[in-house]
Amino acid sequence: MLDTFAIDIQPTATSRLAELDPANMEFGKLFADHMLTVEFTDGEWQQPRIVPYGPLTISPANSALHYGQAIFEGAKAYRQADGSVALFRPLDNWRRLNASAERMAMPTVPEDIFLQGLRELVKLDAGWVPDTAGSSLYLRPFMFATDGFLGVRPSEKYHFGIITCPVAAFFTKPVRVRFEQKYVRAAPGGAGYAKNAGNYGAAMLPSKLAQQEGYHQLLWTDASEHQYVEESGAMNVMFVIDGVIITPALSTSILDGITRRSVLELARDWGLPVEERRVSSREVVAAIQEGRLTEAFGVGTAATIAPIATIGYEGHNYDLPALLDDAFARRVGAALEAIRTGHAADPHGWMVAV
Ligand code: COI
Repeated sequence: MLDTFAIDIQPTATSRLAELDPANMEFGKLFADHMLTVEFTDGEWQQPRIVPYGPLTISPANSALHYGQAIFEGAKAYRQADGSVALFRPLDNWRRLNASAERMAMPTVPEDIFLQGLRELVKLDAGWVPDTAGSSLYLRPFMFATDGFLGVRPSEKYHFGIITCPVAAFFTKPVRVRFEQKYVRAAPGGAGYAKNAGNYGAAMLPSKLAQQEGYHQLLWTDASEHQYVEESGAMNVMFVIDGVIITPALSTSILDGITRRSVLELARDWGLPVEERRVSSREVVAAIQEGRLTEAFGVGTAATIAPIATIGYEGHNYDLPALLDDAFARRVGAALEAIRTGHAADPHGWMVAV
């Protein structure tokens, strides 16, 4: 890879921006006009290019399809109060992408390719960043193996890309979740902390079964005792019990969420009690029954702050109290939204202008 580089940009001749209806944005359906693409060959990253969004060509023997070397990230760009566009904590996504890459024996992506690529892509497609409340341009960096080779070893060639899509809130109403005590998402020493495609693929069947029972998501529990809360599939999870904000401590089986981290940083800024520790399904259910659990919510890039209305456990549904106006989940959601859209100061320097 060149020490300094200019991204090669091929603008589209036919923008699809007229197809964007900010009042009807289905998550992940309509993609902005351009995408970033960079190939890893001969042991190095080649010239980054921004090209019109479109299909990629792969070998039927593509090793990502067969052996699963495929990782991704989720980030967002926000329309600012002054009309400009800024990215939320993009370098945190870059670091996590590389942690996932290392776990999957894939090459890491240099910071300048990731950040400059993201900024130039979003700048070019700035017209796609919606400005309605709670909306954003979802950014999906991804990398996969491209060797057309069925031998079982790390691929020698890879594709790194970024595609983007305008999105509204992922969940429009409070979610129903259920503790999963049969299937396991990730085990200690596995790849649960990495954002590799297989983690999501293996969660499809258990999630589908839960959806057939009327739940939106699962509350995954630990692999050995099926007792301790891990995360909730597309998001990390938090509880407020006796006024303390409690979330499972990070481990090799839990995704190190950037929204999770941001929420905890704001809670600590505000002097609120926070505990990152093991939390069992029994503790959660007992706290609900005793009226000590006042809030449960998911936190994630796509999910933002997703209040939980009902928790299923061993065949019973436990309804949670409605969130009060001054509930932590509401306050932290509003504070994050204000920082992300430039309506509030950004004391941690989370926002990066494009
Ligand atoms: C995200 O929140 O960005 C995710 O990656 C979760 C999901 C949409 C797969």
